Amino acid sequence: MKRKSLISLEEALSLNEDEVKTLFSNYLNPGMAKAFELLGFDKVYIKASGTVLRDRKGNKYLDFLGGFGSLNLGHNPKKVIEALQLVEDRPNILQTSLNPVAAALAHNLAVITPGELSRTFFCNSGTEAVEGAIKLSRAATGKKKIIYCRNSFHGKTMGSLSVTGREKYQKKFTPLIPHCISIPFGDADALERELKQHKDVAAFIVEPIQGEGGIIVPPEGYLKQVRELCTQYEVLLIIDEVQTGFGRTGKMFACEHEGVVPDILCLAKSLGGGIMPVGAFITKPDIWDRAYGGLQNFSLHTSTFGGCTRSVAAALAAIEEIIKMDLPKQAAEKGSYFIAKLREITDKHPLVKEVRGKGLLIGIEFKDSGNILDKLASGVAKKISQDYFGAFVAGELLNRYRIITAYSLNNYNTIRLEPPLIVTYEHLDYVLNAVDEILKNNRSTGKIIFTGVKNAVESFFRSKMKNGKKNNK
Ligand SMILES: Cc1ncc(COP(=O)(O)O)c(C=O)c1O
Repeated sequence: MKRKSLISLEEALSLNEDEVKTLFSNYLNPGMAKAFELLGFDKVYIKASGTVLRDRKGNKYLDFLGGFGSLNLGHNPKKVIEALQLVEDRPNILQTSLNPVAAALAHNLAVITPGELSRTFFCNSGTEAVEGAIKLSRAATGKKKIIYCRNSFHGKTMGSLSVTGREKYQKKFTPLIPHCISIPFGDADALERELKQHKDVAAFIVEPIQGEGGIIVPPEGYLKQVRELCTQYEVLLIIDEVQTGFGRTGKMFACEHEGVVPDILCLAKSLGGGIMPVGAFITKPDIWDRAYGGLQNFSLHTSTFGGCTRSVAAALAAIEEIIKMDLPKQAAEKGSYFIAKLREITDKHPLVKEVRGKGLLIGIEFKDSGNILDKLASGVAKKISQDYFGAFVAGELLNRYRIITAYSLNNYNTIRLEPPLIVTYEHLDYVLNAVDEILKNNRSTGKIIFTGVKNAVESFFRSKMKNGKKNNK
């Protein structure tokens, strides 16, 4: 039933948890509300600063999810907020004008990105950056085909989805854009086979580390090899650093670990300083000019909100802060410490398959829990838990230790640890201790899963009973 009166911002800010749940379920995404409830993620936070969040009761939570990589500077970084105040009297949206902040930010991106990358297009999200990169590659080369990797994640709009290597996300939306070819990730020979076979390939798109795929690090030298192949076969190399960019993996951009310069680099997430939705792709001038040079073509790819003053001011300040605090170095050092300790803790644990990552982009993959679950659960719990095991571990970390993590989108058996790069060693140790305790307490029986399943079952039946009561009224 629709409410008749509007909710003011003040009222919205003081809604209690149940009211938020009802509104979320009625007006946003009921399925997501249900999944959050099953996993114990259905919380409301009212304060955020750095790595710490608080709920209405004042409970403190540690954010080790970091906005899927959007919060390299943490929540509400002061300098970024101050930047917004500095431009509050400027026109925020005025497309037919020259925006000094956008021009300065594009200049700064040219300074911090490798090689000759220097022409930027601003948009508002990661998927738009990828859309733009795909269009640019076709327009610049006049060729059609795009090669992408299985298990990749590049976004969920139609173009990006067409190069996102997971069937679950694609299958309800076919036909996708044609001429997209998938190959295994981390396999340069597979790329070469396709390049030999297909003459009209515009681009190869790849993540330096597959983030949503479950923090998959390719073999050393892979990016270098694909760079060489793309050059040899005259195919553009699109590197998607939407998640790995801005220090996350221990370098400003992950492609720098192998000294690789892409033809097009996709950026978003932490570019907006955790405050504004900012995306971008940056390319070499000759590629830009081939696609969009001259009076005929300059408006072939545009965005209403892309490059608006507040977004680019936030991004300018974010980059300045990331450099001032040397966050790439911090990520490298803290990441080495954290990964080594995590490996010590999880080594030989029967439930853990692998700890992997680079810098502070880290995944813990759990073994397929199907068999253990078969013994422990039945019905709905069994069905959901086989898919969501990593998510249940994330639920345990949240509900017992108040640590926010999440599963990765393509692999629910992997939880990702992606804290703000400003995270303290004390916070890292707290999380290490929590993981240690959870695993120690659940050495062989899978009690951890049992607790998760138990919560899920209870929650499921609670909601069933609630609905039953409603229906009986
Ligand atoms: C590598 C990569 N590319 C693109 C995207 C899509 O970004 P957005 O959700 O901002 O559209 C993501 C999101 O997780 C990503 O990790």
